[in-house]
Amino acid sequence: MSSPIANKEKGAVKKALINFHQKASHNHRVDLLAKMIGAIIGKLFPNDNNIKCIDIGCGDMTIAENIKLKNNNTNWTCIDIYPLPEELQGEEKWEKYQEFDGEHIPFDDNHFKASVFCDVLHHIPGDLIMNVKEAARVSEYVIIKDHFEKSLYSRTMLQLMDIVGNWGYGVSIPERYFSRKRFEALVETCGLEIVEIHPEISLYEHNPLFNAILRPGWQFIAVLRKKV
Ligand SMILES: C[S@@+](CC[C@H](N)C(=O)[O-])C[C@H]1O[C@@H](n2cnc3c(N)ncnc32)[C@H](O)[C@@H]1O
Repeated sequence: MSSPIANKEKGAVKKALINFHQKASHNHRVDLLAKMIGAIIGKLFPNDNNIKCIDIGCGDMTIAENIKLKNNNTNWTCIDIYPLPEELQGEEKWEKYQEFDGEHIPFDDNHFKASVFCDVLHHIPGDLIMNVKEAARVSEYVIIKDHFEKSLYSRTMLQLMDIVGNWGYGVSIPERYFSRKRFEALVETCGLEIVEIHPEISLYEHNPLFNAILRPGWQFIAVLRKKV
């Protein structure tokens, strides 16, 4: 990710990693994921001119902003666990941003049509039940982009990618990622069901190095809703 709200004190190594990640993958990643998530939201609400959405763990808000560029009928609230730095307060761009405690989403039941966790859940320690239930409480659909680990190799590579992409911003590196079974168990425990899943995403076709060591099956997007 790339975020002016996280970890302001960066050393030389962290700055170098951030620069490398920006050049190697960030823009392409945001573009592709925004396209996919935007298409999903557009398909869920084809005739809606004002689709209220919330980006939970928004980072620099580029995912929400890129979806908005492609789907102008979406309106975004962005929340994350960091306070807005003083120098950004009053900036129009950040008006849609709100700090929260990382658990309780400060909105009424069903306030939104869709909530999005984009590469957020694997950074939250614990069982995640509270986090996912909160998203389902405030929205009709919960859209999750995250990783599946399939072996020690995939776990190690995903950890390395998280170090390159996120450690520079002070985001914690996970000990493990979802297996398909653990993800489905979480969905079930939260009283939700998977209505759509994209179990493979080719995020790194543009980068020969990343493309050689990373697999599309380690990236997924799932769409969840409450069980009826
Ligand atoms: C890898 S970044 C992803 C940022 C953005 N969603 C994106 O895809 O570019 C993970 C984000 O999760 C946020 N985060 C960490 N713990 C969280 C929690 N309990 N609830 C919501 N967000 C959290 C971090 O602050 C960080 O912005």
